[in-house]
Amino acid sequence: MADKESVRMALADLAQTRAFGYHIGTVAQAGDIILLSGDLGAGKTTLTQAIAQGLQVPAGCYITSPTFSLLHEYPGRIPLYHMDLYRLAGEEEIEELGFEEYIYGQGLTVIEWPERLGDLTPRSCLEIELLSPTPQSREIILTGRGAMSCRLKNFSNFHGAPHTPI
Ligand SMILES: Nc1ncnc2c1ncn2[C@@H]1O[C@H](COP(=O)(O)OP(=O)(O)OP(=O)(O)O)[C@@H](O)[C@H]1O
Ligand SMILES: [Mg+2]
Repeated sequence: MADKESVRMALADLAQTRAFGYHIGTVAQAGDIILLSGDLGAGKTTLTQAIAQGLQVPAGCYITSPTFSLLHEYPGRIPLYHMDLYRLAGEEEIEELGFEEYIYGQGLTVIEWPERLGDLTPRSCLEIELLSPTPQSREIILTGRGAMSCRLKNFSNFHGAPHTPI
C-alpha cells in the first residue's frame, strides 16, 4: 500500500461543499486528523461547519472561525477539535497550545492553515486542499497519508460529486 493516495473532486456549489463536509463527519473516527488548506475564503471554516453537522454536533453550537481563540471544541458523536493556526508564528507556539494532547485525543481534529505545523505535521492524516476555480465552485484534492491512505476511499466515496484518482 502506498504511503500516500490522492483523489480530485469537483464541487459545483456551496450545497455540494456542505454535503461533502457532512459525509466527512459521518465517516470520521476518534483520533482522525484532517488538514484543511486553501487560500483565505476558500471555504475551510464552511467545510468544518458541515463536518460538525455530520458528527451530530447540536445545531445550537455555532461553528465560528477559531482565528481569535485558536481552538474550539464541540460535542458530537465524537468531539470535534477545530484549530486555526493562521496567526501562529511557529511550532513552539503551537506546542504551547497543547496541540499534541488534542491530536492524540478521542475526537476528530480539523486544522486550518496546517502549513504552520512544520515538523509537527502528523504522519497519518487526511489532507483536503480547497481550490476556487470560480466564486461558487470548488475543486478539492483529498490526500490520505500514512494509515489514512487505506481509508481515503471511505472519505471520497461521496456520490454528490465526480472524482478522479490522481
Ligand atoms: N462551493 C463553496 N464552498 C465553500 N464556500 C463557498 C462556496 N461557494 C461560496 N462559498 C463562500 O465562501 C466563503 C468561504 O469562507 P470561509 O470562512 O469558509 O473560508 P476559510 O477558508 O475558512 O477562510 P480563512 O482562511 O479566512 O479562515 C463563505 O462565505 C462561503 O459561503
Ligand atoms: Mg476559516
